[in-house]
Amino acid sequence: MADKLRIGIIGSGGIAQGCHMKGYASIPDLCEIVAVSDVNPETAKQAAEKFNVPTTYVDYREMLAKENLDAVSVATPNKYHLQPTVDALEAGVNVLCEKPLGMNADECRKMCRTAKDTGKILQVGLQSRFNGPSKWLKTYIDAGHLGDVYFARAQALRRRGVPGWGVFIEKDKQGGGPLIDIGVHILDLTLYLMGYPKPVSASGKAWDHLGKNPALYNSWGDYDRDKFTVEDFAVGLIKFDNGAVISLESSFMSNGPDPFSTHLYGTKAGATVTPYAPGNEGIKLFTEQDRLLMDVTPANIPHVESAHVDEVKAFVDAILHDKPSPVPGENGLILNAIFDAIYASSESGKEQQVDVSF
Ligand SMILES: NC(=O)c1ccc[n+]([C@@H]2O[C@H](COP(=O)([O-])OP(=O)(O)OC[C@H]3O[C@@H](n4cnc5c(N)ncnc54)[C@H](O)[C@@H]3O)[C@@H](O)[C@H]2O)c1
Repeated sequence: MADKLRIGIIGSGGIAQGCHMKGYASIPDLCEIVAVSDVNPETAKQAAEKFNVPTTYVDYREMLAKENLDAVSVATPNKYHLQPTVDALEAGVNVLCEKPLGMNADECRKMCRTAKDTGKILQVGLQSRFNGPSKWLKTYIDAGHLGDVYFARAQALRRRGVPGWGVFIEKDKQGGGPLIDIGVHILDLTLYLMGYPKPVSASGKAWDHLGKNPALYNSWGDYDRDKFTVEDFAVGLIKFDNGAVISLESSFMSNGPDPFSTHLYGTKAGATVTPYAPGNEGIKLFTEQDRLLMDVTPANIPHVESAHVDEVKAFVDAILHDKPSPVPGENGLILNAIFDAIYASSESGKEQQVDVSF
């Protein structure tokens, strides 16, 4: 390994420039972005200029062959996570792959197996756990203050928030709609806080009542209604082998408010976490003391400038110090397996088993 990690970027659009490259650039003593690849050469060039990267490629395989990389970020649309991730791992390169890890659980199985076989790090880009409120609550829960958490209500709901860029509305390139795109963040955070119990079954329903309607307002830019092939709202009920249950709701469009939060119900206390809330607004605790019911707002939530930057720093730190993946591929597999079951349940009308083996 060179003095500094040699980093390559695969897919250099919005999240690569706004988060991954920014993250690597924030720790110049530890790593250097040496090459950028994108199927669109203009995007690669623009990203490279912005971050002073010397070399660009259209084909990431050429970059892997020539650049002697230590690590890559895979920040392509979901359909193009699998092959670059497997190719990079097989080339002996550590991978930080954006969320969701795959289009479905089978893709994730291949990625997890390859990471295991090659001994390289596979990290999933799930940054919500790196936020201040998330970190505070994880410490609080691990100290036992909520008791056993037996139910959680996880919500990633947007009222009128269909992404007007990229391919987020195209099922063949994304694998699904808000469930797989933003539900993945709040479900990951909820599972992380609960210690990632093993899911056994899930049921759910997905609808597309609003997303195709050209008469409706959208606050996240215009988009082609004819291309809208994903759900606009999905719900799921997930059961775990420790008896816990999570109810999950996610939407790009709905006629309701826009929470991005999860509420955990424990045997001793409850907590609501809103990971992106400012200051000390991210946590509310619900406790009882001497028969007095109390709603408590913690006053020392750590300030995190950017969870995205911190996830990149954690990736680099794990490579340099031989640590396990900060967000393991196996977590990504569990999330995709749950989504597969919810989508299958929506089609069949029946509860589905969740298979997380690989
Ligand atoms: N963690 C987060 O909060 C977050 C936020 C936004 C997007 N994402 C994820 O990041 C990924 C990309 O989303 P985005 O918003 O950056 O999209 P984007 O469209 O802005 O960028 C994707 C880039 O990948 C390039 N590309 C497509 N196929 C490629 C291939 N085979 N090889 C190399 N490059 C290829 C495209 O030309 C484009 O420049 C998605 O998986 C998305 O779910 C995560």
